[in-house]
Amino acid sequence: MSVSETKIEWSEKYRPAALSEIVGNSKPVSELRAWALHWQHGVPDQRAVILHGKPGIGKTTAAHALAHDFDWDVIELNASDQRTASAIKQVAGLASETASLSGGIRLIILDEADNIHGNADRGGAQALARIIKETSQPILLTANDLYGVSQSIKNLCMAIAFRSLQSRSIAQMLKKICHNEGIVCDPEALLKIAENAHGDVRSAINDLQAVAQGKDELYLEGVVVSPRDSRDTIFDVLKKIFRGNDIKEAINATYGIDETPDDLIQWIDENLPAQYRGEDVTSAMRALSRADVFLGRVHLRQNYRMWRYAGAMMTSGVTVSKSREYPGARFMPPSKWRMLRSTRTSRQVRDGISEKIGVQCQTSQRYARLNLLPFVKMLSADRDYAVRLTAWMNLDTTEIAYIIGSKKDTKKVKTIHQEAKDMVEDVAPEKVEIFGGSESRAKVEKVEPEKKGEQEKQVKKGKPAKKSEKIPEKKSQTSLFDF
Ligand SMILES: Nc1ncnc2c1ncn2[C@@H]1O[C@H](COP(=O)(O)OP(=O)(O)OP(=O)(O)O)[C@@H](O)[C@H]1O
Ligand SMILES: [Mg+2]
Repeated sequence: MSVSETKIEWSEKYRPAALSEIVGNSKPVSELRAWALHWQHGVPDQRAVILHGKPGIGKTTAAHALAHDFDWDVIELNASDQRTASAIKQVAGLASETASLSGGIRLIILDEADNIHGNADRGGAQALARIIKETSQPILLTANDLYGVSQSIKNLCMAIAFRSLQSRSIAQMLKKICHNEGIVCDPEALLKIAENAHGDVRSAINDLQAVAQGKDELYLEGVVVSPRDSRDTIFDVLKKIFRGNDIKEAINATYGIDETPDDLIQWIDENLPAQYRGEDVTSAMRALSRADVFLGRVHLRQNYRMWRYAGAMMTSGVTVSKSREYPGARFMPPSKWRMLRSTRTSRQVRDGISEKIGVQCQTSQRYARLNLLPFVKMLSADRDYAVRLTAWMNLDTTEIAYIIGSKKDTKKVKTIHQEAKDMVEDVAPEKVEIFGGSESRAKVEKVEPEKKGEQEKQVKKGKPAKKSEKIPEKKSQTSLFDF
């Protein structure tokens, strides 16, 4: 089989090329089209749009499909770590210059706009605001959460909300993919995958590929998917705590987010005074201070079971302290110094592992987080793979705990760590075999630069041809997933 047949990701292969192929979200898609039409007749008042919504629901796809439909060129800046003020200026500047030569319109796409201010170069957000004010070319930003986008940028953009997809619509898409891949599938199996993805199409397609690729038939019994988070954002959780009346819902919402109870309490504490009034604040404060006592015990005794009590106090305790409805002020993130006080958050752990996967697979941290980390987690359910992956990426105990879904101080985590260390002592980490056995495919090796270029060319063949000039987000494929 050729590289493109074995390694191309289905989520890329089946990425809609035109706006009409995008599933769901018809209203935001027509708003986007209307905005683009204005650009066809000169520079409109609204020079930039921001597409926002949860991951994997078609924002970036819509951006490219728009350019495709209007026959615009694309300039893309999508690796968040490269978006310094100077890079933004350079790319957007280039867009204006070359456009004036060719006469065509160029769509400038900036993915993950909610991450811009987090860069080392803090001038990124200001530079972007200035460029939006002055641009002669359409600018399209995407973000998972509008709350993360700086106010100065939001003021300059038309916000278009994308919604998560219904499981039924996702299952329909999966059915088409199976049909195209020549796989006979049980509708129940597809529905199970779709439901597990909680509206995230990319995750659903990735999960389908993991269980169905190379098969002729897919039955319900054959579907083993690692449970995905419902992907509530921290703001959804705060809404449920401060504005909801259901204590169970308030606790349950916390399970899907990345924040540990140590982080969450900072968020709740920061926002409480603006959300409630009078006695209700006092009562909620009391709940928070009890939660804090439990958190102290967690650290003192390294007993993570107490997290449960802390979690209940800081969520339900605050919800029941409310004696009446409040208008609801905007939620603010906790001040920086407070966040620094807390221990390494699970988001930092997740990003650290993604970085390590990215280094080994020669891809970006973001790409590794979205596409490869779920596979690593899935593989790590097998203890033997967990050891090999630990050795390969030099994971520490916190990181092992994260990928196997366990607590850091468990015997399991410690023994995996020890065995991986022993393995590395025998052989260099890059020589560790993930899939022991078959010599030809088993070794996880760094891809030679020439080979990598070749592979990328192959992978790109599946995509619609586009004259896009990218600041490259490296997406190479390695033999880790060649199974
Ligand atoms: N509405 C949709 N219709 C059809 N396919 C979709 C849709 N949304 C997502 N997909 C599929 O999922 C993949 C990822 O989608 P996309 O990159 O547009 O997500 P996104 O919303 O930009 O996510 P993120 O916030 O993580 O950047 C696409 O390549 C496509 O295969
Ligand atoms: Mg995107």
